[in-house]
Amino acid sequence: AVGAEKFVPDAKSLDELKAAAPGCRGCELYEGATQVVFGRGDAHAKVVFVGEQPGDVEDQKGLPFVGPAGHLLRRAVDDAGMDPGHIYITNAVKHFRFELRGKRRIHQTPDRVHIEACRPWLVSEFALLKPQVVVVLGATAAKALLGPSFRVTQSRGQVLPWPDSAQRPQDFPVEPAKLVATIHPSAVLRADNREIAYNGLVADLKVAARVLD
Ligand code: URA
Ligand code: SF4
Repeated sequence: AVGAEKFVPDAKSLDELKAAAPGCRGCELYEGATQVVFGRGDAHAKVVFVGEQPGDVEDQKGLPFVGPAGHLLRRAVDDAGMDPGHIYITNAVKHFRFELRGKRRIHQTPDRVHIEACRPWLVSEFALLKPQVVVVLGATAAKALLGPSFRVTQSRGQVLPWPDSAQRPQDFPVEPAKLVATIHPSAVLRADNREIAYNGLVADLKVAARVLD
């Protein structure tokens, strides 16, 4: 993988950035996917959510978090007292990675090479958004932003400083964003006790909401 860097323009707006994303050949994932799935939401959002990669539904619709995990996330955002109209949602990896089994497309977690290759898009989104809080959803986003040794289960629900490893974009605000890590909404859908898992997600999102107060 060569990485997305040379495909990422020096964009002055998110729309400009997004318009360039379909041309990315920074890793091989564009080959199998239907289309790139870029971030979406309020360009002035103070809170930015980072997921893993688009799922099957997202790949077909071209929009992030519009499947079952997305519905759950929006409900949790609402229950945490955040305004769903004032957030921006994106993914660490912008193309759907899957394995074909018969006619079914089975989700495959992106590897480190895909996360590294795709990170320039994420960094550029941050540079334009200048968020106050970044909510890291699950292990893949945590690997992209907090490094390979970060453990979501150990450090979730805490306000963390922006790490040096996250390559702060040059024109980031003087006061850099805080990070709050939590579980991925699809982990709630898979949990033995969904209610407990959901309440944990909402509790972590409330920590993120309080940073803004
Ligand atoms: N899961 C993610 O991490 N991102 C999406 O966009 C959808 C599901
Ligand atoms: Fe480019 Fe990211 Fe898609 Fe790979 S996954 S081709 S780096 S946009």
